[in-house]
Amino acid sequence: MKPKILIIDDDASLRRVLEYNLQQAGYDVSAASSGEEGLHLFAEVSPALVITDMKMPGMDGMQVLESIKERSAETLVIIITAFGTVDIAVEAMKGGAYDYITKPFNRDALRLTVDKALQFTRLSAENKRLKSELADRSDFRTIIGSSPQMEKVFATVRKVADSEASVFITGESGTGKELVARSIHSQSGRRNGPFVAINCAAIPRDLLESELFGHVKGAFTGATRDKDGKFQRAEGGTLFLDEIGDMPLELQPKLLRALQERVVEPLGGTKPQKLDVRVVTATNLDMDKALAAGEFREDLYYRLSVIPIHLPPLRERHDDIPLLLRYFCTKHGCEQVTFDSSAMTALTAYPWPGNVRELENMVERLLIMRNGDTITLDDLPDKIGARRTLSATAAINLPDEGYSLEQLEREVVYEALERNGWNQTAAARFLRIPRHTLIYRIEKYGIITPTK
Ligand SMILES: Nc1ncnc2c1ncn2[C@@H]1O[C@H](COP(=O)(O)OP(=O)(O)OP(=O)(O)O)[C@@H](O)[C@H]1O
Ligand SMILES: [Mg+2]
Repeated sequence: MKPKILIIDDDASLRRVLEYNLQQAGYDVSAASSGEEGLHLFAEVSPALVITDMKMPGMDGMQVLESIKERSAETLVIIITAFGTVDIAVEAMKGGAYDYITKPFNRDALRLTVDKALQFTRLSAENKRLKSELADRSDFRTIIGSSPQMEKVFATVRKVADSEASVFITGESGTGKELVARSIHSQSGRRNGPFVAINCAAIPRDLLESELFGHVKGAFTGATRDKDGKFQRAEGGTLFLDEIGDMPLELQPKLLRALQERVVEPLGGTKPQKLDVRVVTATNLDMDKALAAGEFREDLYYRLSVIPIHLPPLRERHDDIPLLLRYFCTKHGCEQVTFDSSAMTALTAYPWPGNVRELENMVERLLIMRNGDTITLDDLPDKIGARRTLSATAAINLPDEGYSLEQLEREVVYEALERNGWNQTAAARFLRIPRHTLIYRIEKYGIITPTK
């Protein structure tokens, strides 16, 4: 595609000279005879470069520069000033102009200035792309886990990464679904292609179709040019459809078609585009419910879930907790920090409703707030570490903001076990419940016996 340039000059002959020269140089040129007209055209063609005269009746070059920078900071503006008015040019440069040309100018000087400007645009676009790619990559950190459940996940990831099969990742919020999706991509043959993620729940319904499949110019009001969707951007790589459970029913047939026939049709377009994209999906919703309620098409679901991967909540894999604590300390630059056994016990017993994300956030906070390199029970937030001596009255003494009954129950069970030297029979008697009820609670809350 030819780079687009917009010329704004009230002097018709100069405008024609500029237009002719730049067209000869291989650019796609539009021209306007006033600042006002120029801004209109600007919205229509979105040029990479604007060349504007300084002195014009009505809106002058300075005002044009200002409005353009307001609308699109990346667009470069070159100012044309009369010979001997360098101070004006300097003003314009301070206002964000990229360069200036003084009248009269020769053809070579014009070309040189314009080429340099457009090369700058190209380089900064390229730079931006590389940076975001790098951010994407460094975002992919190792997945930590040594529990049997996570070993199983790793084995599946290794096996399926290189296939083209659609992977459907389920798990509560914060269990690492996106991490797994990235890991599948980076272990696949597509690792050098793009990894593109889209959160279906975060995008308004009306925009989702165009976000996914792109649109052509004029497809709807405001569609001033063709735009690629996430599918096109993921060409040769992996598309991660996050929160797929929120995909509106009316869009599902189009997605199904994209998966089955490997073609997408941009909004308002007539030509389907062939695409080579691997799709990985995730959700923290209960898909069985969505299917039963008719909110999700079964045919699409089966297409998406050729390989299901379930990430168990952290409370079901305590073995991973010490390892994750270690990992996050190191990751946040505090390798020397350790946890004493009381702290470790409380951390392993806590049910982590926000899963690994909650654990990482807590570690970050602890590392900032800690008093030394050994974290003790006292360093932990109350909800995790509180060494409450619960008496019947303390139990009724609830905080004003409310308190979770489950949490209270967990604390009671923990306390009972601790008081009874972790003897389950004695603790059950203490709580006046059968032993199997106690064991059920211990498992439910992931309470583990501290090692002495
Ligand atoms: N096993 C793990 N090892 C290391 N870091 C992890 C692990 N699991 C999750 N994390 C980290 O926890 C955070 C949450 O993970 P991620 O975004 O993948 O969760 P998610 O399941 O996609 O959550 P949500 O449903 O809320 O989007 C991230 O910072 C991620 O790096
Ligand atoms: Mg996620």
